[in-house]
Amino acid sequence: AAQIPGELTRVHFTEAQIQDRIREIAAEIDSDYAGTVPLLVGVLNGAVMVMADLSRAMKLHCEHDWMAVSSYGAGTQSSGVVRILKDLSSDIEGRHVIVVEDIIDTGLTLQYLLQNLSTRLPASLELMTMFRKPEAFKCNVVPKYIGYDLPDEFVVGYGLDYAGQYRNLRDCATLSPTVYS
Ligand code: PRP
Ligand code: MN
Ligand code: MG
Repeated sequence: AAQIPGELTRVHFTEAQIQDRIREIAAEIDSDYAGTVPLLVGVLNGAVMVMADLSRAMKLHCEHDWMAVSSYGAGTQSSGVVRILKDLSSDIEGRHVIVVEDIIDTGLTLQYLLQNLSTRLPASLELMTMFRKPEAFKCNVVPKYIGYDLPDEFVVGYGLDYAGQYRNLRDCATLSPTVYS
């Protein structure tokens, strides 16, 4: 989708920068998980773009599964309430699981999700996130793979939405406060 002038105040990472970093992380995963078939668990809806790009940049065989966990609803603030809207389709016991996220902001979503998944006895459980915000440093969740750090602004694109829109923006950019205030 093309950028809409006036609605975006600053591009943080271009499509090319995002894809470069995705390729680097995919190579790390290929090496770290050599000899296994990792199960990538994408967190709907935001992780759709990362899942598609990361898995296709990997050389290893992998499998995909999805969970839908919502913490934001339609607003711009994390509510702290995590709801499982869709659970995994597969049994992860004994599997090498990599949870894939578009962003960790407060970390509340991932804290809940990783705790929940760990009770299902995976062989290993790690986290890949494309973006991380400063708030995330205050939580216990430590991603094994991180794309880029973002400033504490309301950012959209590459899966990140505002009220369900802007996910298809190829770059990652700050949304003008005039859109949501
Ligand atoms: C967003 C984002 C992460 C989560 C991060 O999802 O995609 O999943 O919030 O926030 P946190 O670290 O503060 O928990 P959202 O709940 O907006 O659902 P979505 O992926 O469908 O947009
Ligand atoms: Mn999400
Ligand atoms: Mg969202």
